[in-house]
Amino acid sequence: MSWPSWLPLRDALRPLSAYGAPQVPAQASLNTNENPYSPSASLQKAITEAVSLVAADLNRYPDRDATKLRTQLAGYINELSDTKFSAENIWAANGSNEIIQSIFLAFAKGPVLGFTPSYSMHPLIAKTTGAQWIDGKRNSDFSLNTQDAVAEIIKNKPTLTFITTPNNPTGGAVTIDSIQTLADAAKTVGGLLVVDEAYAEFSQEISAVTLIANNPHVIVIRTMSKAFAFAGARVGYLVSDQAVKDAMMIVRLPYHLSALTQAAAQVAIDHRAELLGGVSTLIAARESIITQLHQLGLSTVPSSANFVLFSGFKQDAPQLWSALLEKGVLIRDVGLSGYLRVTIGNDAENQLFISALKELI
Ligand SMILES: Cc1ncc(COP(=O)(O)O)c(C=O)c1O
Repeated sequence: MSWPSWLPLRDALRPLSAYGAPQVPAQASLNTNENPYSPSASLQKAITEAVSLVAADLNRYPDRDATKLRTQLAGYINELSDTKFSAENIWAANGSNEIIQSIFLAFAKGPVLGFTPSYSMHPLIAKTTGAQWIDGKRNSDFSLNTQDAVAEIIKNKPTLTFITTPNNPTGGAVTIDSIQTLADAAKTVGGLLVVDEAYAEFSQEISAVTLIANNPHVIVIRTMSKAFAFAGARVGYLVSDQAVKDAMMIVRLPYHLSALTQAAAQVAIDHRAELLGGVSTLIAARESIITQLHQLGLSTVPSSANFVLFSGFKQDAPQLWSALLEKGVLIRDVGLSGYLRVTIGNDAENQLFISALKELI
């Protein structure tokens, strides 16, 4: 991008372009790992009622600490992981991207290490916040090599080490034993281990939230955008020791989470059984898509998430991506040569994806 010379844009930002998957209309939108199931009519009504109550007070700022929402999120995590968190262990923001940014603002005083390919916003937010990012490597099958990762932590002494489990865009999960090993290494160098668990509800692995009580330098990032089917509302959160949460309150913007967002999210958490009801269906659909991709002669990377990275097609990835879009199927070219990523959709979307692919490969 060429910027006008009068614009005093920071040097580190000049080579960058705005992040974003193409937002184009398609019959099957399988590109951003959203949940395909929209809220039921009764949930829509409950949200509308809660929002209309709040509307009467929109002249006032919202609860800037979002205490009720954080208490509910603590309850949800305790239910899943048999932990004993309270609102003091939770921070909530406009999507987990804002949580990631706040972590950088608060803690990235030294180098930050991540293991690519992984969630591209981690290095991008490092750049936009002026942090030094170090690209650690993965095995050639994209799994995380715990011993190599420990060696990178010891060598680079990062203030922050990011891992994503299940990993986006590759899909594999890291075991709790490996996460503990990485946490031990991070502790040795005086750093924090940040575990991005955006897709945790789709995985069988034990959550890293269970490590926090004995490892206060472990931070876990979660979101309501994926399993919770609530991406449009923009709610992400972290689970951590209280000291980490207190630091988040220093870097947050005042009243960052609107009263409308808080009200809608509170209702969504109350209806979690319904919203999370789609998870088992999506896991079954993921397994079926993997089988069908194999029947087409394609290869897949093992996935514990709501998407699958696949390869083995004859075209290059951008060509196949465009050809699928012409047939109404929008998936994601994640910039890995020879690979494309498809999000698991509803039955009709999944069928359209497979039938379009059959005609193209
Ligand atoms: C690994 C990971 N973390 C965080 C996010 C951000 O999610 P949100 O800001 O919607 O909570 C995503 C979104 O795709 C993701 O894949």
